[in-house]
Amino acid sequence: MTDTVNVSRHPLVLHKLTLLRSRLTEPKKFRELVSEISQLLFYEATADLPLAPLTVATPLAPCDGYEIAQQIGLIPILRAGLGMTQAILEIIPTAHVWHLGLYRDHETLLPVTYYNKLPAEPDIDLAIILDPMLATGGSAVAAVDILKQWGSKRIKFLGLIAAPEGVRTLSAAHPDVPIHLAAIDSQLNERGYIVPGLGDAGDRQFGTG
Ligand code: PRP
Ligand code: URA
Repeated sequence: MTDTVNVSRHPLVLHKLTLLRSRLTEPKKFRELVSEISQLLFYEATADLPLAPLTVATPLAPCDGYEIAQQIGLIPILRAGLGMTQAILEIIPTAHVWHLGLYRDHETLLPVTYYNKLPAEPDIDLAIILDPMLATGGSAVAAVDILKQWGSKRIKFLGLIAAPEGVRTLSAAHPDVPIHLAAIDSQLNERGYIVPGLGDAGDRQFGTG
């Protein structure tokens, strides 16, 4: 793996990811875990955010402090990325959210774009793609392609579980895009599902399938 691929080793992430994977975890608990793990991964993925100095008045005295110096854009990939978005917005409420609708064709496993809510001009400094699953990598590559065509100069990918194939495909197509994950699993099965994975992330969040 390249140095742009970051897999969390945080005990809280590993504990919660194990609960998330279990087939016994119901949609309500599953959504809570997606939210909690997303916040922890976002925290790690934004350790390099630039800061600007700022002075605040405490009740006692002026105090030198900081504010985030960049406009963050969250790009959830519908549907499954939706569950990551609200949780991250709670940490960074000033982020803009631009939805991209992509689904995998079940036969070809190729991504199909069905919704794009990006504005005409990029209005963010850092775009963070949110999608729990990086399987073949087709959807992630398509999302980065769309963001780059739009004019995004800085992009990160934040996911929960990846297959090695997906990491390789995304890294090869877009080596400038750091990838942040909770786990890289062993392989894809013949239907393009990550093994052991967690099943279908959209279905498990929304009780479908
Ligand atoms: C899942 C997942 C990714 C994609 C990953 O979405 O959320 O977007 O598959 O697969 P890939 O790396 O092989 O492209 P899905 O197509 O199941 O759509 P959904 O979220 O609407 O269920
Ligand atoms: N999408 C999912 O939701 N799960 C997988 O394992 C692969 C793609």
